[in-house]
Amino acid sequence: MTAAPRIRTLFDENQIARRIDEIARQIATTDPRDLLVVAVLKGSFMFAADLIRALHRAGLAPHVEFTHLSSYRTATVSSGQVTILKDVDSDVRGRDVLLVDDILESGRTLAFAKDLLAARGARKVATCVLLEKPGKRAVRVNPDYVGFTCPDLFVVGYGMDVAHAYRQLPFVGVVEHGADDNQGELTFNG
Ligand code: IMP
Ligand code: MG
Repeated sequence: MTAAPRIRTLFDENQIARRIDEIARQIATTDPRDLLVVAVLKGSFMFAADLIRALHRAGLAPHVEFTHLSSYRTATVSSGQVTILKDVDSDVRGRDVLLVDDILESGRTLAFAKDLLAARGARKVATCVLLEKPGKRAVRVNPDYVGFTCPDLFVVGYGMDVAHAYRQLPFVGVVEHGADDNQGELTFNG
């Protein structure tokens, strides 16, 4: 029998909300021009939704786009390759783009998306991640805005999944497994 996993909270709802408001105010001070927020699906949908509303409160009126990128297939192994599952629909030429993702780990996803949007003629591409896991970087990319530094643990909630579960949680947490769970079977899905 497998015990139901417990979720240990790492960043709670209030902490996340406060930090998002700070980031939005910081972004507003840069006075972005023709701002387009590009949220990287799926993991960033909740963060992006809250950030966009915080940007509104900070006096900005961004347009919003989504892209779905895939960089891995299993929880433990990085394929090292990024593929576009869904591209942005809008023209980014001459615009200030804010790229939003859930976690910065190897940096491959963010670096790929940033280079792509820059190559398409964006005036500026700023990057914003909710969580940054230091010490896991494989490519050079320095995020402009970081919610929190995250311990090197597999986290879920607030949009992030393991095997499609836990995206609905309003906080970020760590799954604490029973000793008999087979973690090798777990997959996550961007
Ligand atoms: P990177 O390309 O290695 O930086 O990978 C970043 C992507 O991997 C993020 O956008 C997430 O979708 C996913 N990811 C990395 N670590 C975690 C985690 O702990 N939980 C859930 N998803 C993760
Ligand atoms: Mg992702």
